[in-house]
Amino acid sequence: MKKAGVIGHPIAHSKSPRIHGYWLAKYGIDGEYKAYDVHPHQLRDEALRLRDAGLAGFNVTLPHKQAIMNICTTLNDEAARIGAVNTVVFHQSGEIEGRNTDAFGFMTNSSEAHPEHNWSAAPAVVLGAGGAARAILYALQRAGVPEVRLANRTIDTAESLAEEFDCRVHEWDERDAALEGAGAVINTTSLGMSGQPPLEIDLGGLQPSALVYDIVYAPLQTPLLQAAQVRGCLCVTGIGMLLHQARPGFQAWFGSRELPAVDRDLMELVLA
Ligand code: ATR
Repeated sequence: MKKAGVIGHPIAHSKSPRIHGYWLAKYGIDGEYKAYDVHPHQLRDEALRLRDAGLAGFNVTLPHKQAIMNICTTLNDEAARIGAVNTVVFHQSGEIEGRNTDAFGFMTNSSEAHPEHNWSAAPAVVLGAGGAARAILYALQRAGVPEVRLANRTIDTAESLAEEFDCRVHEWDERDAALEGAGAVINTTSLGMSGQPPLEIDLGGLQPSALVYDIVYAPLQTPLLQAAQVRGCLCVTGIGMLLHQARPGFQAWFGSRELPAVDRDLMELVLA
């Protein structure tokens, strides 16, 4: 039986076992995918113990996405550029490969929802400068976005990210003005999530056909996306990013011939 899992601390809330469990059943693969609560002090020992227990690899979530790089013997391009790993693959050769599939998840979700959106036609605005923003800035760079504007409550964080990913920094209080003439805006903050305050922003400056992407998926229709819908913008919800980022790991660990599919049943299962 093939085995994989997800490590994090805390981990109880993780949706990954549901996602991979769904695919294992759907594709009739004899496999197991479990969540492991790993304390930061135990990261190296636990990661190697899981390898020795026969896991083919695991997903990595908070707070280990950067620290896990120390046990990887090789990083793929995306992980190296993003500076974080969310997928580890144990190879037969002994190589421990760190990958990052968040940029893939971000862009695949967007192109499935709105293939007509042309990322290279206009500036894009990123709100927030945490871990998710790093992968998204990388994805935007790869997509040929001509100018990326970055607004974050803590300006220092935005400035250090801007050096790495070549963006223009805007003060958090100037976020409305940052939208002027933009073709896309992406919320990577936790604002709008259930239990958090809504993201307050005036979408008036956006191009009329702009794409509005919220990586928050609980609730699915955030106040930001509701406002975007009223304006007739292209809307992208956050659940697809979570589901698509999981696909390359599943293929690597369980040996499916193709990437597993994101379908409606899976989406409903994860949102339930
Ligand atoms: P993730 O790894 O999921 O991106 P994170 O690293 O905790 O999560 O990042 C959260 C982002 O939401 C940060 O950009 C944070 O801004 P700061 O850098 O100033 O902390 C942003 N954020 C969280 N709460 C916020 C609030 N009330 N107002 C504005 N931004 C907020």
